[in-house]
Amino acid sequence: MRGPTIALVIGIAIVVIAAAIALQYLTAPSGGGGGGAQPPATPTQTQTSQQTGTSAPPSGGGGPIQYDPQLAAKGKQYFNEIGCTSCHSIKSLGISGGNVGPDLSKALLGNPGQAGSVIDKYFKENGLDNPAADPQKAAQLLAQFLTNPPDYAGTMKTMVNTYKNAYPDWATERVPALVEMLKEAAK
Ligand code: HEC
Repeated sequence: MRGPTIALVIGIAIVVIAAAIALQYLTAPSGGGGGGAQPPATPTQTQTSQQTGTSAPPSGGGGPIQYDPQLAAKGKQYFNEIGCTSCHSIKSLGISGGNVGPDLSKALLGNPGQAGSVIDKYFKENGLDNPAADPQKAAQLLAQFLTNPPDYAGTMKTMVNTYKNAYPDWATERVPALVEMLKEAAK
């Protein structure tokens, strides 16, 4: 009597566990196409040394911050060359600079706790309450900020006007690279 009962209990337990695991796979949000049973995608943002020609990381709102290392490197080059460093540091990237403007390490995430920061206000008034949950949208808004800063970002408004005159490729080339660098900084 005892033996068979235990065997039955164990048998049921195994079936229940197997069903639970199967259910988890079937209901897990799948990153791309097909139906279900995919392991979670591995984040690819640690490939800093991998400088392959392929750019444009896959965009998937939410999730980890992904960036194109080549474009981000270009952004760092511009950041120094343009002279953003006279007012900003980016500590997370080891870039030291002036403190007229806030450190930009977490600008993509709304720069919590940074004195003089305006970017969170800018995100919020553009409908982004939680930048960490949607880094893709945050990046878009950062690009918009750097192309056309709001009136309450008086210093940046003046600076960006200067940059637009100095660099005809400001919006098409420099801003995207700078934003990519800010993604790397915040990751
Ligand atoms: C003359 C100083 C100065 C320079 C140069 C400057 N900034 Fe700024 N930046 C500021 C100040 C001050 C703020 C805060 C908002 C304001 O008053 O404009 C700011 C805000 C920002 C913000 C929003 C960060 C936040 O937390 O609100 C970003 C992003 C930014 N700057 C990027 C840049 C980049 C990229 C460059 C170079 C292309 C640059 N800045 C050059 C002074 C400067």
